[in-house]
Amino acid sequence: MPTPDATWTPLELDALVDAAGPSWSVYLHPTATSTNALAAENPVPGTIVVADHQTAGRGRLTRSWDTPPGTALTFSAVVDPGLADHDWPLLPLGVALAVADGVTGASGVRLDLKWPNDLLVPDPDGEQRKLAGILLERVTGAEGRPLAVIGIGINVGLQEAELPVPTATSLAIAGSSVDRTEVFGAVALALRLMLGSLRREPLAILERYRTECDTIGREVSVELPDGGSFTGTATGLDRNGRLLVGDQAISAGDVLHVRPT
Ligand code: BTN
Repeated sequence: MPTPDATWTPLELDALVDAAGPSWSVYLHPTATSTNALAAENPVPGTIVVADHQTAGRGRLTRSWDTPPGTALTFSAVVDPGLADHDWPLLPLGVALAVADGVTGASGVRLDLKWPNDLLVPDPDGEQRKLAGILLERVTGAEGRPLAVIGIGINVGLQEAELPVPTATSLAIAGSSVDRTEVFGAVALALRLMLGSLRREPLAILERYRTECDTIGREVSVELPDGGSFTGTATGLDRNGRLLVGDQAISAGDVLHVRPT
């Protein structure tokens, strides 16, 4: 494992527990392969598994998620969303809103939301760079109930030279010196509030996401899971949170914002 730099402050369990509040049971691993994998081993609603350093983080679409030690917030929350089957597709969108609320609340950094749940920050050249990603997996809990493992990776203290890819960014690069524990507490609170709202009023969350999602109205390039790709204008979302591009409704795949020339 690479050596963390001198400014690295390890996460502490007591501080994380205080920050998360009484609704969550928090477990901290100094090192873990993937918090999503750990959380899914014995999924209990209301638990959050945090890794101070993740060595084999998983991203969407079978990608990896790499962060240097001490610089990122990597954790997975297990929840019983209590949603009807037809509302489950709204969960990734609600989680994206919650993570954005928490991160902006703690850091003051304004984020752009790229469908379905990437959080971006524009750099001084107007290029949108990725700050945080979310990997949501459906698992089966005790008594066969469907649960969600919500994996969240947020780049907090990375410097330019530490970025895994040049299209990434961090809160430090965006000018915030907020620490990981503060961001964790704000996101854990926002997640709890969001889950309550989603259960009570799923369509209101869909409407809020529609209003705040930066993808809608943009020219996008879509890469489908089957390898196909096309470009078009993202015009909206359907009732299931699928992105409407031309005459297609996209439920999975990679969407890139095409920058106007
Ligand atoms: C993506 O944008 O591709 C999703 C990235 C999700 C990364 C987080 S880090 C914590 C949790 N554990 C994982 O293995 N992945 C998620």
